[in-house]
Amino acid sequence: MARLGVNIDHVATVREARKTNEPDPVWAATLAELGGADGITLHLREDRRHIQDRDVRIMIETVAVPTNLELATADEVLAIACDLRPTQATLVPERREEVTTEGGLDVVGQRERVTAAVKRLQDAGIVVSLFLDPDPQQIEAGIATGAEAIELHTGAYAHASAKGKALDELAQLHQSAELIRQAGIVLNAGHGLTYRNVRPVAAIAEMHELNIGHSIIARAIMVGLEQAVRDMKRLVSE
Ligand code: PXP
Repeated sequence: MARLGVNIDHVATVREARKTNEPDPVWAATLAELGGADGITLHLREDRRHIQDRDVRIMIETVAVPTNLELATADEVLAIACDLRPTQATLVPERREEVTTEGGLDVVGQRERVTAAVKRLQDAGIVVSLFLDPDPQQIEAGIATGAEAIELHTGAYAHASAKGKALDELAQLHQSAELIRQAGIVLNAGHGLTYRNVRPVAAIAEMHELNIGHSIIARAIMVGLEQAVRDMKRLVSE
């Protein structure tokens, strides 16, 4: 069975909307752990739009399950990762204007830079995963960097508007998964996965870990809102 990594960035997004101290993603990570999360994923973006350095530090110190830190190949965040040492680091592309991580890392276009980042993290004792589109050229280049894992970007599958297109994208994921299996490295996947579309991806042979954020946090709001209002109502009425 694939492991479930819960991405708690969106909790920090809500906090940063008010620049206050709630909701705390560290607390959310503990709740996710109690709910059965096999890992906690968080993204330290260069622009610090959601997760802050303090979140990464406390999360790594307090969470019992493995931590997976997503980061760009930029020197500043690589240094933080090497210092704080999450269980795993996932290298992702970053564009400041993007809404979220739109597209996989371009390893073909920057082999040396990615390989150097992989080595730097591995030398610090961190397992390295690369977030790649299901594109055979990128997968081959990713394998050549020596990373221990590849996380397939499932965005194109998740956002396919028609069923036929989704099946095509799923076939691409299967094809890339096969290349990853043949190379003997770990297969992960994530992005845009929801309660509706997760099953075919979870069923891909030897899928090790799925990283899911937005859909879980969206559902948490829906299943928790009624209780939250009830709690406030009680205080107001007292
Ligand atoms: N995996 C990676 C590498 C990501 O960048 C993200 C988004 O931050 C996710 C998984 C989770 O995506 P979503 O929030 O759409 O579930």
